[in-house]
Amino acid sequence: MTALRRILVTGGAGFIGSALVRHLVLEFGAEVLVVDRLTYAGDRRSLSACEGRPGFAFLEADVADLDAMRRAMEEFRPQAVAHLAAESHVDRSIAGAAPFIHTNIVGTFAMLEAARAYRDGLDAGDRDAFRFLHVSTDEVFGSLPEEGAFDEATRYDPRSPYSASKAASDHLARAWFHTYGLPVLVTNCSNNYGPFHFPEKLIPLVLLNALEGKPLPVYGDGGNVRDWLFVEDHVRALVTVLARGVPGATYCIGGRSERRNLQVVEQICDVLDRLRPAARPRRKLITFVPDRPGHDRRYAIDPSRIERELGWHARETFETGLERTVRWYLDNEWWWRPLREQRYAGERLGLPATGTSAARAVA
Ligand code: NAD
Ligand code: TYD
Repeated sequence: MTALRRILVTGGAGFIGSALVRHLVLEFGAEVLVVDRLTYAGDRRSLSACEGRPGFAFLEADVADLDAMRRAMEEFRPQAVAHLAAESHVDRSIAGAAPFIHTNIVGTFAMLEAARAYRDGLDAGDRDAFRFLHVSTDEVFGSLPEEGAFDEATRYDPRSPYSASKAASDHLARAWFHTYGLPVLVTNCSNNYGPFHFPEKLIPLVLLNALEGKPLPVYGDGGNVRDWLFVEDHVRALVTVLARGVPGATYCIGGRSERRNLQVVEQICDVLDRLRPAARPRRKLITFVPDRPGHDRRYAIDPSRIERELGWHARETFETGLERTVRWYLDNEWWWRPLREQRYAGERLGLPATGTSAARAVA
C-alpha cells in the first residue's frame, strides 16, 4: 500500500466497506472519500472512528448518478476506486429485485464510466497507476455439490436475483478492462462475518435473537454450507489486491472455513452460553423454518491463487473469528440496538406470499 494514498470507496458505510475504510484511514493514514447513499444497510456510525481524521471525507450520493460520480472523481482525484456499494441481501432480492438492478448493475456501469472519463484526463504516470477494484461474490458461480470449490476459472451460473445482478456487474467490469483498458481488478469472496454486520444476515441475526431469547430461524434442513471469511481478513486481501493485483485479473478470496448452517447456529449458541450464561441453553431456541426459494446448497472458495501469487492468507479460523464477533456484539449494543428497533427487527424476508407454513420447532 505504499503507492496508493487517495482512495474513493463506494459503500463505505456498509459492513465490508466500513471495515475497509477503517483499515485504510486508521492503519495506513490514507485519504479516503466514502461515497454512500445511506440505504437501510448503511450507517455513518460504523465510521465514527474515522470522523474528523485528516483526509477522511463522506459524500452521500447514489453510485448510479453518473454526473455526481464524475464530479466526485474530478474533485477528489483518487488514485484508486474500491467499488463495494451494492444491495447485498439475497432474501431482499427475492422480495423485490428492482433496487438490485439499479445499484448493482446501473450503479456499477456509472462507476466504470465515471472512472474511465476521469482516468483519461490523467497524465501518463497517474493513468498507469490508477486501479478500479470491483468487489463481488462467490454466489455468481452458483451452487456446488458436496465436493469441489470455486476458483477463478469457474463458469458463471448465478441463480438468485442478487447473484444475477452481481454477475452482470462483474461482466461489465471485465468489459471495461478489455474494451477501454480501464485497470480493473475483480474479487469474488465467500460469506463475510464480523463486527458492524447488519443484523439481517445469518450470523448477526442469530446472535442477537439468541441474546434476546427469540427463535433462531434455520432455513430448510440447516445442511446448506457456506465458507466463512472474517471481514478483517477480507479487507487485508482487498488492500493486497489493490496494491499488487494484476489489472484484468480476478482473485477468489475465502477463509477455508466451510460450515453447515446448523453447525454455525449451534456454535453461536455455545459461545454465547459460555460468555453470557442464560437460564436455558440457547440451542433450545433453534427453529427450522421453510426454505429460501432457490436456496443454493453449498459455496466453497479455493483461494490458492491469491495465497500463491500475492502472499495473502486468512489469519482467523472460524472459531477465533466467531469468538471475536460475539464479543464485539456483546460490547457494542450502542451500534446494533437502534438498528433492531428502528430499521429491521428480524422478521422473515423473501418468502413468496403463499409459501409460509408452520415453523417446526426443534426443541
Ligand atoms: P452492505 O449491504 O453491508 O453495505 C452496502 C453499502 O452500500 C451500504 O452502506 C449502502 O448504504 C450502500 N449502497 C447501497 N446502494 C447504494 C447506492 N445506490 N449508492 C451508493 N451507496 C449504496 O454490504 P456488504 O456486506 O458490506 O457488501 C459489500 C460488497 O461486498 C457488495 O458489493 C457485496 O455484493 C460484496 N460481498 C459481500 C459479501 C458478504 O458476505 N457480506 C460476500 C461477498 C461479496
Ligand atoms: P445469508 O447470511 O443471508 O448469506 P447468503 O444467502 O448470501 O449466503 O445466509 C447464509 C446462510 O444461512 C444461507 O444458507 C441462508 C441461511 N439463513 C438461515 O438459515 N436463516 C436465516 O435467518 C438467514 C438470514 C439465513
